[in-house]
Amino acid sequence: MCGIVGYIGPADSVPILVDGLTRLEYRGYDSAGVAVLQDSRLEIRRHTGRLSNLEASMQQAPLTGSVGIGHTRWATHGAPSEKNAHPHTDSTGRIAVVHNGIIENYQALRNELAARGHRFLSETDTEVIPHLIEDELAAGAASMLEAIRRALARTRGAYALGIVSLDEPETLYAARLGSPLIAGVGDGELYIASDVPAILNRTRQVVYLGDGQIATLRREGLELVDMAGKPVAAEVQTVELEAEAAERAGFETFMLKEIHEQPRVLRTLLNLHLGNGQQDTPEILGFDADYWRSLRRIMAISCGTAYHAAMYGRLLLEGLTGLAVETDLGSEFRYSNRKIDPATLVLAVSQSGETADTLASVRMAHERGCRLLSICNVAGSSLVRESDHVLYTHAGPEIGVASTKAYTAQLMALALLALAVGRVRGDIAPELADEMISDLRAVPDAIHYVLNRAEIIREIAEKHHDGPSSLYLGRRYNFPTALEGALKNKEISYQHAEAYAAGEMKHGPIALINEYLPVICICTRTRDEVYEKTISNVREVEARGGRIIAIATDGDTEVADIAEDTIYVPQTRDEFSPMVNVVALQLLAYYAAQARGTDIDKPRNLAKSVTVE
Ligand code: M6R
Repeated sequence: MCGIVGYIGPADSVPILVDGLTRLEYRGYDSAGVAVLQDSRLEIRRHTGRLSNLEASMQQAPLTGSVGIGHTRWATHGAPSEKNAHPHTDSTGRIAVVHNGIIENYQALRNELAARGHRFLSETDTEVIPHLIEDELAAGAASMLEAIRRALARTRGAYALGIVSLDEPETLYAARLGSPLIAGVGDGELYIASDVPAILNRTRQVVYLGDGQIATLRREGLELVDMAGKPVAAEVQTVELEAEAAERAGFETFMLKEIHEQPRVLRTLLNLHLGNGQQDTPEILGFDADYWRSLRRIMAISCGTAYHAAMYGRLLLEGLTGLAVETDLGSEFRYSNRKIDPATLVLAVSQSGETADTLASVRMAHERGCRLLSICNVAGSSLVRESDHVLYTHAGPEIGVASTKAYTAQLMALALLALAVGRVRGDIAPELADEMISDLRAVPDAIHYVLNRAEIIREIAEKHHDGPSSLYLGRRYNFPTALEGALKNKEISYQHAEAYAAGEMKHGPIALINEYLPVICICTRTRDEVYEKTISNVREVEARGGRIIAIATDGDTEVADIAEDTIYVPQTRDEFSPMVNVVALQLLAYYAAQARGTDIDKPRNLAKSVTVE
């Protein structure tokens, strides 16, 4: 989604803004712009398309200045165009604003302001903000801060804002409501950013702005106030991430790097929660043992890939505990009449912790008195701040838009949670729990083995990459895997892909099967009761001439005999096999996308975190 960077300090802000925006490119955008205070002038440059276009325009008409704001825009209101790109200004051209989020009542505000002579140059909701500030100054606001505060009180919606004004050339303002924003504190210089990686190479000292807070940044330091103008203490925190975590480290794309990081990420989670022993650490449970023992129901809420993780978590939690677990999509739950009461635990799964639909749903649940447990990857995110307890996935920054390591980390966190809850409730025999934990520990090595087969997977992907469509089949624990594999393929190779529970195929999609359709069948096994059923489904595909690509357990010759191509993975306990099988599907999608020549890290139309409804 959109990205914000701002700078105030002794250096020239322009290269800092461009560098920060480059580090946010992964979030997805379609235009970019900067505003810089320069010799009593407010200079703005904007361009559609990639940042390199903006840089080229700045080479033609250079600008420099020690206070500036920059933005990458992902269009919501108004097409991707230069006039709609941020920053936007007021009528006098003295105030410039960059904005992430949505001003829901912008049309009414725009009509009101236009009736009083304000002229609007874009189709965006954002443009009302500088005009509102101008309006408040004209109405007698004593300072920029006062005008910003009064202007924002007239808006409804969500925002992260960076604001500069010629009237206060030594000041940078920032404000937040519902969209993430941080301030970075350096030595005599300060930054703002919508995401930590934007400024990680410049400072690790950050202040996470809270909802409804406005920050005033001057070289001497930063002050926070709430919407009533009351001072708020700014808590400076140290970000533990290394700057290199957000670099490609020799891989051709972030996505490939992140796929290869999975064994390490899962080992970290295992070590963190199990150490060398077999016992889950109590903090994984979050709430005390009595709470878990008396709990009856969990409602898991999430979107996209995280929803597939939640589907897996439901199967595992229901299998290992006596709990009833339901899943819902954030975008559906928030408008549904689903019954939730204080006896329901809400489980939110989100990589970013900023997904608007997930956040709106959990807020609703919280208001109804439910406790909130989150599985999240981003410390300081909105979800983390609102949760009663957080189970971190510790996957490190995920830059590739298509989620990979965050997904397997979510699966691992859910597996650890299900085992811990099963144990504490007494729903799972200790010997079985121990056996399962030993099997869980084997998962990172099994993934490593799949990564070592990347070349075989590449050949298969290249052979099948050019068809218009593909079908993914899996059952039980691997039905979510099939959904996730198809999603990866759609996201990065732009090839239509559909996923079905294999047993459902004969209820409709079987009509699609012909000698051209690649059908990716997940049929791994240890003692899986659905293995034979899955093989029957694969035979139904075979009988209709479909081109079968099988994900099979090492040594399974029966599957290889039916399939046109087989990707072998190591034997892994059925319950945990999704963590291994999905890696083969990630690579399959990756190499198909590469063969199709797409922009893998920044697929078209997609944003890394969907902070609008
Ligand atoms: O940050 P979240 O996990 O809440 O994001 C949810 C989805 O937007 C996200 O998983 C999306 O589907 C990814 N592009 C998947 O690769």
